[in-house]
Amino acid sequence: MKRFILVSMLLGAMAPAMADAGLDLAKAKGCTACHAVATKVVGPAYKDVAAKYAGQKDAEGKLVQKVLKGSSGVWGAIPMPANTQVSDGDAHTLVKWILSQKK
Ligand code: HEC
Repeated sequence: MKRFILVSMLLGAMAPAMADAGLDLAKAKGCTACHAVATKVVGPAYKDVAAKYAGQKDAEGKLVQKVLKGSSGVWGAIPMPANTQVSDGDAHTLVKWILSQKK
């Protein structure tokens, strides 16, 4: 029982910290200029992206390429330019975080 409480406390403390790390990276890489988690800005809300690709196994790899090279024609008339300031590793971290945003 003690152990259960300890684990719950640890998880409780970690979850928000992890969410913030993703958001911090998105801010640092300029994604939040066009994206927000819950609302459409220039680009789609990250929650909408997560919902669209939920359950698709190849979504992460596909979206990493979109983040690195840009995207057009999926969400509307406005394209996303290539994000050349983002490394491959950061793109994976960002896409994992985006896909974990649930409604
Ligand atoms: C200049 C504005 C802009 C910036 C900066 C931007 N995006 Fe986007 N993003 C868009 C637009 C517009 C779309 C929709 C493109 C489309 O319809 O294909 C989009 C789409 C996406 C998608 C969904 C692609 C798909 O195929 O469904 C992801 C994931 C994404 N952006 C992640 C990011 C990440 C991560 C960053 C930061 C490294 C970022 N974006 C920076 C405008 C932007």
